[in-house]
Amino acid sequence: MAATSLQELFVEELRDMYDAEKRLTKALPKMAKATEDGPLRAAFTAHLKETERQIGRLEQVFKTVGEKPRGKKCDGMMGIIEEGNTAMEELEGAVLDAALIAGAQKAEHYEISSYGTLAYFAELLGNDRAKQLLGQTLDEEKAADEKLTAIAKSDVNCDALMGTGDEDEEEPSFSMRNVRRAAASYGIANDKRRSAGRKATKKK
Ligand SMILES: [Fe+2]
Repeated sequence: MAATSLQELFVEELRDMYDAEKRLTKALPKMAKATEDGPLRAAFTAHLKETERQIGRLEQVFKTVGEKPRGKKCDGMMGIIEEGNTAMEELEGAVLDAALIAGAQKAEHYEISSYGTLAYFAELLGNDRAKQLLGQTLDEEKAADEKLTAIAKSDVNCDALMGTGDEDEEEPSFSMRNVRRAAASYGIANDKRRSAGRKATKKK
C-alpha cells in the first residue's frame, strides 16, 4: 500500500533501510574475504559489527512508532551489492581493492542520504528519540565513508595505479612519481613499509 502521509513514508523508508542493512551484513564478510589489503579487511570487518548495531537501532526506531521491524526489498542497495559481486568475479589484486572501496563508498553514500532524510522526517514528526537514534547512525556512516577515503588515498589506489613489480626499481617510474606527488599533496607518506605489510597479509 502506498504511503499517504509523512508518517507512513517514514515507516516505508525505515523498512527500506532495514532491508539494506541486512543485505550489507551478508555482503561485508564476502568483501572482507575478497581483499588482500589488511587495513581494508579490518575496515570491512569493523563496519560489519557497526552494521549489526545499526540494525538494532532501527528496531528501536520501529518501536517508537509502534511498528514491528520489517524490511521491504531495497532495490538501491541490491544494485550496489550486485555491482560489487561482479567486481569480485572479474577483478583481482589492487584493482579489485580499489573497486571494493568504490562500491563500499556507494553503499555509504546511499545510507548517508537515507539516514539524513529519516532523521529529518523524525524531527518534522516530533519524534525526538528516533531523530537521536537515526542521527547516531548517520554519524557512523559518515565516519565509515571517511575511513574508506583515507585507506584509498594512503595505499590502495596508489597500488592500483602502479600495478605490481616496480617498487624496487632505482629510477622511479612516471606513475611512481605521480603517486608520490599525489600522496604528498594529501599529506600522506607513500610508506614502503606499509606496502611490505600489505604483502605479508596476503592470503595463501
Ligand atoms: Fe549502515
